[in-house]
Amino acid sequence: MQAPFRPVTHVRHVAMAVPNYKEAVDFYQDLWGLERVADDSGLSFWGTPADPEQYVVRLREDEKKGIDLVAYAARSAADVDQLAERLVAGNIKLDREPGSLDTPGGGYGVRFYDPDGVLVEVSADVAPKPFRALEERESIPQNLSHFVLNTPNLEAMKGFYEEYLGLRLTDWLGNVLCFMRAGSQHHILGLGRGRHTAINHVSFEMRGIDEYMRGSGRLLRAGQEVLWGPGRHTAGDNTFSYFLDPNGNVHEYTTSLEVVDDENHEPRTYDMKPETQDQWGFGGAITERMLAAQANDPDQKLWASSPV
Ligand SMILES: [Fe+2]
Repeated sequence: MQAPFRPVTHVRHVAMAVPNYKEAVDFYQDLWGLERVADDSGLSFWGTPADPEQYVVRLREDEKKGIDLVAYAARSAADVDQLAERLVAGNIKLDREPGSLDTPGGGYGVRFYDPDGVLVEVSADVAPKPFRALEERESIPQNLSHFVLNTPNLEAMKGFYEEYLGLRLTDWLGNVLCFMRAGSQHHILGLGRGRHTAINHVSFEMRGIDEYMRGSGRLLRAGQEVLWGPGRHTAGDNTFSYFLDPNGNVHEYTTSLEVVDDENHEPRTYDMKPETQDQWGFGGAITERMLAAQANDPDQKLWASSPV
C-alpha cells in the first residue's frame, strides 16, 4: 500500500497585515519577547533566539487587518512539487507556482488558497538560522507552537487540510474546534467554528512551566489584560495564557503540549465543561472577554495575494 502523502512538518510563521503597526512592533519587542531579525519600512520579521526558523511572525503595515499568509514547512522540494501537482489536479487556485522564495532564508515554495481564501505557503530548503537553547527562567517564546483559525466552513476546511497538507485529526472540543497534527505534536493547526474567517489565536511555546508563568506575569505587570488563564487545557494538555495584541489578535503563551502516537492515535471528543477546559481550576471556563476576542474581526485579506 502506498504511504499517505503528508508533506508538512510544522508551522513556520504567520504573516499578518496590521493597521497598528508601530504598536505591534513595540508589543513584540518590549512585551512578548520576540527578536526583530529583519525589517524594511512597514515590514518586519520576528524570530526567537531558540528556533532555527528564520522568523515566526511577519508584520506588514496595511490599512486592512488580516492574514497575509500562513507558512508551513515541507519535508522536501520534491514534496512541494508534488503538492502543487495535487492542488492543480484538484482545481485549487495557486497564487504562486513552485519556485525560489526571496524572504529571509530563501527556500523553495508554493502558494495557494485554502477553501476560505487564506493564503497558504508551503516551503522546503529554507536555510536555518543560528539558534541556542533558552536558559532557565528565560521567559521568551521558544518557537511557534500552533495556529488556530476561525472558519464558517469547518468541515470543508478540515477536509482540505487533511487531503492536501496531510494533517490528521487529533481531537475535537465539542463540535466547535478540531485539532490537527502533522506528526506527534498534538496540533499545529486548530480550526474553530466561527461566523467569519479570522485568526482565533497564535500560540507560542515557552521553555517550561516556570518560564510560561514568568512571561505571563511580565505582561500582567505591564498592564496587559489576561483574557483567559493561567490554565491547563485537557485537549492538548497544554498550559494557556491568552492576551490581546495591539491589533486585536489573540496571542497565547503555552507549554507542554501533548505528544501523541501519530500512527495509532484515535481521535477523542472533549466536552466543554470548565474542568475540562482548565484542569488546574484557576482559568476555569472560557471567559466572555476571550470569546469576544477570539471571534475577532472578519479577515480582510482573504483571496488576496501577499505583496511580500
Ligand atoms: Fe492554543
